[in-house]
Amino acid sequence: MIKYADFQTMRIPLKNGTGQIPAVGFGTLIADLALTISATRDAVDVGYRHFDCAERYQNEREVGEALKSAFDAGVIKRQDLFMTTKLWNTNHRPERVKPAFEASLKRLGLDDLDLYLAHTPFAFQPGEEFDPRDAAGNIIYDKGVTLLDTWQAMERLVTEGKSRAIGLSDIKLEQLAPLYEAATIKPAVVQVESHIYLPETELLDFCREKGMVLLAFAPLGHGMRPGPIEDPVVLSIAARIGKTPAQVLLAWAVQRGTAMLTTPKTTARALENFDISPLPEDAFAEINAIKTRQRLNQVVESGSPGFIRLK
Ligand SMILES: NC(=O)c1ccc[n+]([C@@H]2O[C@H](COP(=O)([O-])OP(=O)(O)OC[C@H]3O[C@@H](n4cnc5c(N)ncnc54)[C@H](OP(=O)(O)O)[C@@H]3O)[C@@H](O)[C@H]2O)c1
Repeated sequence: MIKYADFQTMRIPLKNGTGQIPAVGFGTLIADLALTISATRDAVDVGYRHFDCAERYQNEREVGEALKSAFDAGVIKRQDLFMTTKLWNTNHRPERVKPAFEASLKRLGLDDLDLYLAHTPFAFQPGEEFDPRDAAGNIIYDKGVTLLDTWQAMERLVTEGKSRAIGLSDIKLEQLAPLYEAATIKPAVVQVESHIYLPETELLDFCREKGMVLLAFAPLGHGMRPGPIEDPVVLSIAARIGKTPAQVLLAWAVQRGTAMLTTPKTTARALENFDISPLPEDAFAEINAIKTRQRLNQVVESGSPGFIRLK
């Protein structure tokens, strides 16, 4: 457990890569493009320095636009930011990895990345269709490429100095462990759904042992109600310590040693979700004792996105 740190500025050194990942990250999974721009710019102004993007979110251009406005206004410099994006499932063939990476960079308006993630371990049929399906509606997988093939193409982005670190997302321990063993450049970060109802303790322990950072998505349970944000233990701690339920959940994620992603869409929410600080020991222990278990996003089972509702 991390103690007495300033959660807002805390950075976790990447043992299997170069750099330090800010524990608090802003997630850009926002369907509306105008909202992507305003929420991203708000996040910069509030103080978020870690931005999680993906080609699959179809809004890298708008994230880039918001960042450019902040660069041009002199609010931040590129080197102040920790920038991540993700390779989509249709680009797992090794020859498609670098072009997909370069296309993301171009849309984001960046020259390099801090972290490039394989969005899921599942390879889909290559092509322009994000979710290729057969006549029966089943996803068409690509049997001609392994996760290790894709990983080795991602490793080359590190050796070429294009990305300072690489990692995986939406992966289970039984898939991560063999990839970790086979990799020349080890994953620096593993991004998975994680919240008080899905603490992923075994995966977190493995990541710690191997020097990987677990990056939690949906730390508020994706805002689902009922869900973590309405858990009675969380509500009672929030009232007791004068914080909001969201602040309690986000602080818990950082306090247990993970980095986390949150997606505030208004200035007020951006301020609220950034204003987190360590929980008292008893509150932290009470949350750890919650027994409810619930996975909200089934993307780990098939590679098919659970939360993405884009145009
Ligand atoms: N690797 C993957 O497959 C994957 C999957 C999902 C997400 N992600 C990443 O993780 C990021 C975060 O995921 P997420 O958006 O599911 O996380 P989340 O923060 O758990 O959930 C966001 C939801 O919480 C609500 N919310 C935000 N702040 C709140 C507050 N202070 N009080 C009450 N409700 C609040 C939002 O409501 P409103 O809609 O009203 O704003 C939204 O519905 C994404 O943007 C993306 O970058 C990755």
